[in-house]
Amino acid sequence: MEHVTAVPSWAMLAYLVSGVLFILALRGLSSPATSRAGNRYGMIGMTIAMVTTLVTHGIASLPEIAGAIAIGGGVGFVTARKIKMTDMPQLVAAFHSLVGLAAVLVGLAAYLNPQAFGIAGADGIIEPQSRIEMGLGIAIGAITFSGSIIAFLKLAGKMSGSPILLPGRHVLNLGTLIAILGLVAYFTQDQSQWVIATITVLSFIIGFLLIIPIGGADMPVVVSMLNSYSGWAAAAMGFTLHNTAMIITGALVGSSGAILSYIMCKAMNRGFLSVIAGGFGAEAAAGGGAAKEQRPWKRGSAEDAAYMMKEAENVIIIPGYGMAVSQAQHALREMGDVLKKEGVNVKYAIHPVAGRMPGHMNVLLAEANVPYDEVFELEDINSEFAQADVAFIIGANDVVNPAAKTDKSSPIYGMPVFDVDKAKTIFFVKRSMGGVGYAGVDNDVFYMDQTMMLLADAKKMVEDIVKALAH
Ligand code: TAP
Repeated sequence: MEHVTAVPSWAMLAYLVSGVLFILALRGLSSPATSRAGNRYGMIGMTIAMVTTLVTHGIASLPEIAGAIAIGGGVGFVTARKIKMTDMPQLVAAFHSLVGLAAVLVGLAAYLNPQAFGIAGADGIIEPQSRIEMGLGIAIGAITFSGSIIAFLKLAGKMSGSPILLPGRHVLNLGTLIAILGLVAYFTQDQSQWVIATITVLSFIIGFLLIIPIGGADMPVVVSMLNSYSGWAAAAMGFTLHNTAMIITGALVGSSGAILSYIMCKAMNRGFLSVIAGGFGAEAAAGGGAAKEQRPWKRGSAEDAAYMMKEAENVIIIPGYGMAVSQAQHALREMGDVLKKEGVNVKYAIHPVAGRMPGHMNVLLAEANVPYDEVFELEDINSEFAQADVAFIIGANDVVNPAAKTDKSSPIYGMPVFDVDKAKTIFFVKRSMGGVGYAGVDNDVFYMDQTMMLLADAKKMVEDIVKALAH
């Protein structure tokens, strides 16, 4: 017990201030206009929390901590600078796995040396309440770790992105979860090594089992769900380490991640519980991916697009993952500017799961200085396609696929999509007729009477359209 310093009241106040700053950060991050300020609040809050912890925790050796911060911070800095925007989702998943692993290691360290954590007397008997915190912390951490590794592999394309459905998986998952909870309860009576070891191993396994059956269009929910898990793992660590700031931060990350998952589920028209339980209703998805048919389609050119859009009254631009791949956002803004000068009413339509991470398109358009008031969410703009002269689809695919409305066997069935088929003319920018979207299915829009395929790299095509507009 003697190792643990009582936390002075000024430190509690400092933790409270950092907690408030984190809440302001989350609030700021909810809109592109305030996100920079939100980031700043978060950084200040984290600095206050870290300095307070370092000053008040007598057990830490400062040079060791400084060394760890320098190494960890250095790796983070270099990775963040190098990472391509299109690789962000898998990076986020990889970082989540580290939070989970840290929770497991802290829990195991507390188990092996409970006196240093102030949770056991001289006899080494750990307090029952701490055993529960430790057991749950290790379990959530291990689930986050292994689940995030699977998500990383799927998002990085190193493992099939489609759902892998094991027979009897619901019974297996439920049985494993019940066993973990039972062992945590038993741990309060018996602190033997085998109990904590079994909790750890079972939790690693259930993490794999829960994420493996989720795939295709449900991956966005997985990313935000693991974000939430990593928060709860950190909160559990906060209990073990008796650190209020960590409990507050973990709970904020945990609950905001859960809210985001819920919002994404609603946007995708998926049941929240079904997704968490792992691949419920994914049977239909496994049968999807219909074979490609040879159907007639029309090829357009940059000149066709320039001419039609110049003459149009309303143009709606639908960006997707391909815009991010080709970094076409700046050229696209330029195209929008030229069209606006010609008196065309230009709007951008953003689907909640366009791209590969929440807010992906918003970030790219903001980077290219597209005015916020030209950017609309799905439910705010979908009714306007009926009045649109041109729907300009650039690197989007699944989010405009009508199969989501009509084909029950499609992996994206039930997901709300843009009603681009109601626009008078559709320009569809993608590189080839063979390329599919994330869900791997054909798209009827390619073959519609009013559709012209603009087959090229998105940035190159938009630059050519801008040139054609100038003539
Ligand atoms: P996708 O359906 O993935 O389609 C991307 C399109 O971009 C494809 O048609 C592709 O065709 C084209 N493309 C790729 N590179 C290009 C380039 N350089 N130039 C021009 N076109 C290019 O995109 P989406 O409509 O944005 O849909 C998002 C999908 O990802 C959804 O299924 C969603 O569930 C899933 N997902 C989303 C997230 C989040 S959080 N947003 C996370 C994981 C998964 P070509 O190859 O022929 O060019």
